[in-house]
Amino acid sequence: MLISIIFLLVLSPFVSVAPAAEVFRFSSYYGDHMVLQKAPAKAVVWGFGQTGAEVVVSLSEPHKGSASSALVVNGIWRTTLNPVEAGGPYNLTASQNTTKSSITLTDVLFGDIWICSGQSNMAFTVSQLINATEELAMASKFPNVRIFQAALEQSSKELIDLAGVEVPWSRPTAKLLGGKPFSHFSAVCWLFGRYLYDTLNYPIGIVETCWGGTPVEAWSSPRALHKCGLKSSESSVPYSPLPVESNLLLNVSEKWKSSVLWNAMIHPLLNMTITGAIWYQGEDNTNYNRDDYNCSFPGMIDDWRMAFHEGSGGQTALDFPFGFVQLSTFRRKDQHDGFREIRWHQTADYGFAPNERMKNTFMAVAIDLPDDKSPWGSIHPEYKRDVAHRLVLGARAVAYGEKNVSFQGPFPSQIVLNQFFIRIVFNQDIKVTLDDDFFEICCFEEKKCGSDENWLPSSIIKHGLNYVFISIPPPCSDASVKAVRYLWTDWPCKFKACPIYSSDGLLPAPPFILAITKQ
Ligand SMILES: *[C@@H]1O[C@H](CO)[C@@H](O)[C@H](O)[C@H]1NC(C)=O
Ligand SMILES: *[C@@H]1O[C@H](CO)[C@@H](O)[C@H](O)[C@H]1NC(C)=O
Ligand SMILES: *[C@@H]1O[C@H](CO)[C@@H](O)[C@H](O)[C@H]1NC(C)=O
Ligand SMILES: *[C@@H]1O[C@H](CO)[C@@H](O)[C@H](O)[C@H]1NC(C)=O
Ligand SMILES: *[C@@H]1O[C@H](CO)[C@@H](O)[C@H](O)[C@H]1NC(C)=O
Ligand SMILES: *[C@@H]1O[C@H](CO)[C@@H](O)[C@H](O)[C@H]1NC(C)=O
Ligand SMILES: *[C@@H]1O[C@H](CO)[C@@H](O)[C@H](O)[C@H]1NC(C)=O
Repeated sequence: MLISIIFLLVLSPFVSVAPAAEVFRFSSYYGDHMVLQKAPAKAVVWGFGQTGAEVVVSLSEPHKGSASSALVVNGIWRTTLNPVEAGGPYNLTASQNTTKSSITLTDVLFGDIWICSGQSNMAFTVSQLINATEELAMASKFPNVRIFQAALEQSSKELIDLAGVEVPWSRPTAKLLGGKPFSHFSAVCWLFGRYLYDTLNYPIGIVETCWGGTPVEAWSSPRALHKCGLKSSESSVPYSPLPVESNLLLNVSEKWKSSVLWNAMIHPLLNMTITGAIWYQGEDNTNYNRDDYNCSFPGMIDDWRMAFHEGSGGQTALDFPFGFVQLSTFRRKDQHDGFREIRWHQTADYGFAPNERMKNTFMAVAIDLPDDKSPWGSIHPEYKRDVAHRLVLGARAVAYGEKNVSFQGPFPSQIVLNQFFIRIVFNQDIKVTLDDDFFEICCFEEKKCGSDENWLPSSIIKHGLNYVFISIPPPCSDASVKAVRYLWTDWPCKFKACPIYSSDGLLPAPPFILAITKQ
């Protein structure tokens, strides 16, 4: 809090009271201790200045020779640096010829930038973790993982620059990471950055821009919403901030106007060159435009990719890697709270990621990480280390192309009907930890499979290296089986005890619902 107050005081003459566009400065998210995107991409650097002036941007040795310059147009200058390999620290200086003034950012590193966005499970702070003290004590051992956090702001128009900064670019400290619950700094974002640093060994910049209790529509541009047939402003109810999303009612969506966070917390960042993004959101859509999430979520990813690519002048990849956390659990008994549908829709109804519709994505499955003892409510499981580990496996495989990294749990590759059982063959070897009734089958016409009462529990009767046999309970027969589903409730498993895992026991098979085609 203190930090944000100080920062606002410093910036307020320039940011809140907008007119001083001629003041020569960097935009809000360029600062001392920052990470700029490393080679082969080129970092974009921009700011404000006197219209008509020339601004020259240069790095300290050994890159002093390669300065880039820009004219200030409509009070804004923008340069693209030559590619710089990972490393640092450097000083980055911008000089404006008309005022003969220069401004310098110190302790700048080059590395990979990841955006972290979503709702409260992304906002969940390091201080809220189990054994937070241990994690916080480690902060200063990672001076090359740099953190930045946008302030909670919303806007009805697309903003050019952030309206506020919660944590300016900083080296991590226990104090910055260990803010009040849901303030700063995101546990999933931090752990993702820290684990990634462990495997890459070069600087990582993590940018937190998230807000508890928010639906995907708030983070989506009107353009993206339109493509899914969603109105660009669904609600006219003024927003009243809640510190944390309600634990009992997921009914806060109505308070959010579409696109307000896209406008204020994503659009300003588009001009920065980034490596990728991670996302933990969906709870708030279990009760709000749920059936559209299979369009709105993949659509938002497409739109962000296009916009970051364009905003960085082509430096951010058009298909930049996008990782997300599949929803964990909320209510133990309730089968109708929409979590299973959102989990499925998060994958564009494929069940796994990446897939045809969602290329270059990766998913951390969290259905086996329930936490009914979480002091933050069961909707906020504390097991963020597991989530971050699984995300980093996905990033290593998908974003960094590491060949030998297993990051997906088993998924059916073939379902074969036999007279007395159904054989489900998986795309990898499996470990079966228990043989309970986690499968269900529907043997009515397709329409009726929409209704839970027409699903019958089916048990694993046999399993092998990469397959299970599940039963066909009466009155179903092999000829009548239409569909099979797995883990199709809000809270199917105990902690890390779903029935089917990868052979090393680490990655759970994600939930699925699959129609059976006759052979
Ligand atoms: C950056 O500038 C500071 C003074 O502002 C100086 O002490 C430091 O040595 C410079 N660092 C580099 C890498 O040039
Ligand atoms: C600054 O650079 C601009 C663009 O090159 C030029 O038009 C202007 O005369 C320069 N001003 C000064 C004071 O050098
Ligand atoms: C917390 O720390 C204790 C003691 O070091 C350890 O036994 C336990 O496994 C840790 N829990 C987690 C979730 O890391
Ligand atoms: C949630 O919002 C809907 C629509 O405004 C309303 O009808 C319903 O009563 C609300 N539910 C709760 C539990 O507040
Ligand atoms: C999304 O899911 C709904 C049902 O929840 C379905 O009717 C629709 O066809 C799906 N749309 C896409 C694009 O997959
Ligand atoms: C940032 O990118 C957006 C989208 O391409 C563009 O409209 C805007 O002018 C850019 N801002 C700056 C400062 O270059
Ligand atoms: C790939 O991973 C497996 C299991 O961890 C290991 O046994 C094997 O040596 C690895 N292969 C290569 C080429 O790194």
